[in-house]
Amino acid sequence: GVKISSLLKETGLVTLDPGFMNTASTTSAITYIDGDAGILRYRGYPIDQLAEGSSFLEVAYLLIKGELPTADELEAFTSRVHKHRLLHEDFKAFFTAFPANGHPMAILQSGVSALATYYQHTLDPRDEEQVELATVLLMAKVPTMIAYIAKRALGLPLLYPDASKSYVEDFYRLTFHLPYQDHDVDPALTKALDMLLILHADHEQNCSTSTVRMVGSSNANIYSAVSAGVGALSGPLHGGANESVLEMLTAIQASGGDASEFMRKVKNKEDGVRLMGFGHRVYKNYDPRAAIVKDAAHEVLGKLGKSDELLDIAMGLEEIALNDDYFIERKLYPNVDFYTGLIYKAMGFPTQMFTPLFAMGRLPGWIAQYREMIADPTTKIGRPRQVYTGETERQYPAGR
Ligand code: ACO
Repeated sequence: GVKISSLLKETGLVTLDPGFMNTASTTSAITYIDGDAGILRYRGYPIDQLAEGSSFLEVAYLLIKGELPTADELEAFTSRVHKHRLLHEDFKAFFTAFPANGHPMAILQSGVSALATYYQHTLDPRDEEQVELATVLLMAKVPTMIAYIAKRALGLPLLYPDASKSYVEDFYRLTFHLPYQDHDVDPALTKALDMLLILHADHEQNCSTSTVRMVGSSNANIYSAVSAGVGALSGPLHGGANESVLEMLTAIQASGGDASEFMRKVKNKEDGVRLMGFGHRVYKNYDPRAAIVKDAAHEVLGKLGKSDELLDIAMGLEEIALNDDYFIERKLYPNVDFYTGLIYKAMGFPTQMFTPLFAMGRLPGWIAQYREMIADPTTKIGRPRQVYTGETERQYPAGR
């Protein structure tokens, strides 16, 4: 057969598709989305079944390896990850090099990229063992890094990871506990957080994942690729939306709690205001993750005995949107991050930590997609074409 790439080269055919509305950048066997039907599956397993019955590390294994682990495989993977949760001591100084109020996503992006300097024996994408070790190191160290960034922002002392605790429980402990004040973490909280991480674990070729693949397509090491993914995720149209949603709800609350004026602005597109946490490139139906998160928000806030006026405002906004022609015509529904921030807030996370939590969840997806790309013999360096619209040739003025 004729190779499509050489055919395109010969004909000089170029397609222009801003935002990749209709252009697939790759084949992939990891995640399936049917946006019209509101379906999301990891490796064929429906997201609601994984959220209900699985654990984040099990889902990470599933995404990365393609199959659910046996009990022994999960045990081996978990203990390998736990063994590497310590950060190099120099990282303590690394974090202090940033202003205390610097955004955690910017510090995280730098931290992930810096891992390449500490683990130089894990940088070769063509060496399976190196990639395997880098996978474990990323899964192990990123939560510790995020917890330390949170602590540093408040000037609080850092704790060392405790391998006897579960992945999520220890993350919670590292983030919130102080020396000599270590106490048990409410299992309802760790279960909810574990579930949220599962919901964020992969979402096929979204902006950050496409970025990870693009950077990795040059054979850049996995830390560089994932660090670029963190950068892409930080934007308010992507992972940063969870932070923006809470800011939006807080602003509505501060102005008296009446959402109608805000909604008027959104519909008139005044000052580019959008209903954050609504809309999705692929879902033209209720995001299946949003439905699960909404139930979890009620459950977690109920368990913590916290009533949150912001949750009422969020539900009010959803109610208006689901019955308003503007949103109906454009098929705009809540996405995964419309309700997540309310849960993170109830758990005690500062708003700026919301997007790093998304990054912690998306990490196995980025790793799985990087590895799938590297293992695919048809992978070529990502290099889009353009349609040039500038000046044709001009002469540089003589004597200038
Ligand atoms: N509020 C108001 N109007 C919206 C919204 C929204 N949240 N989202 C889309 N629209 C409108 C657009 O103005 C546009 O209207 P028009 O046809 O009159 O011009 C129409 O709906 C289509 O929107 P696009 O921007 O073309 O859709 P696109 O697929 O490019 O964008 C995106 C998807 C970025 C998610 C968008 O819906 C958005 O900005 N949402 C708010 C931010 C957000 O929640 N992001 C998180 C995404 S999910 C995630 O990363 C976890």
